[in-house]
Amino acid sequence: MNTFLPSRLFSLTRLRSNRDMQSLYDDAASGWQSGIRKLTFDTAYQELVRHPRVPVAHNRVLDAGCGTGALAQAYLCQTHYDGEIDLLDLSHHMLAQAQASIPQANILHGAVGDVPLDHRYDVILCAHVIEHCADPDAALRWLKSHLAPGGTLVLSVSRPHWCTTLVRWRWGHASYRPDQVVEMMQQSGFKNVNIAPFKSGPPSRLSSGYIANSPNPVA
Ligand SMILES: C[S@@+](CC[C@H](N)C(=O)[O-])C[C@H]1O[C@@H](n2cnc3c(N)ncnc32)[C@H](O)[C@@H]1O
Repeated sequence: MNTFLPSRLFSLTRLRSNRDMQSLYDDAASGWQSGIRKLTFDTAYQELVRHPRVPVAHNRVLDAGCGTGALAQAYLCQTHYDGEIDLLDLSHHMLAQAQASIPQANILHGAVGDVPLDHRYDVILCAHVIEHCADPDAALRWLKSHLAPGGTLVLSVSRPHWCTTLVRWRWGHASYRPDQVVEMMQQSGFKNVNIAPFKSGPPSRLSSGYIANSPNPVA
């Protein structure tokens, strides 16, 4: 039996359509980056990308559901990667903010799990997006399908907390315990799944980081 079905069913009752989500995040875009800083997610993201298993990409990077690009900025700053980087989001206003802070990025509009992409990435960054997806397993499989063999997924997902329960009413997202996320990632075909907990501040209570690889048949 799927042990976390009840929490998913509860979550599904709150999930929004992509169209609603786009307008919600369009409205939030101008204040998003200052909210990230206030809650210290910028620091948490820097911590996450310093994880020894996060490589410097040699080909192409995607931030899927990039918002204002906070995780991509942390990655670029930490690794000094200067190759191709694609930023994908449903919200045009979020994408405009992300483009302003990472002018060299290629901007892609569309939904994780839906939009066809032309590339396989050696690193995919994805923070607080699968919680918005009606089928998070399908979203994870989509992310895996866009990784090159052996590529790395750097993921951050909201954890259950009284605060995330309140936040859910506004943003309509689910939250998953770290063991649930690990199970979902493994079932979606990811290998070497590690939890990379945030160490301090609100991110340590509200969220967790994860690192995983797509299978590499030649390894
Ligand atoms: C909670 S915000 C996180 C933004 C950013 N990753 C960060 O950590 O600051 C969720 C973002 O994902 C976008 N989003 C939600 N569902 C999406 C989907 N299915 N595909 C692409 N973007 C999505 C929203 O527009 C929003 O910008």
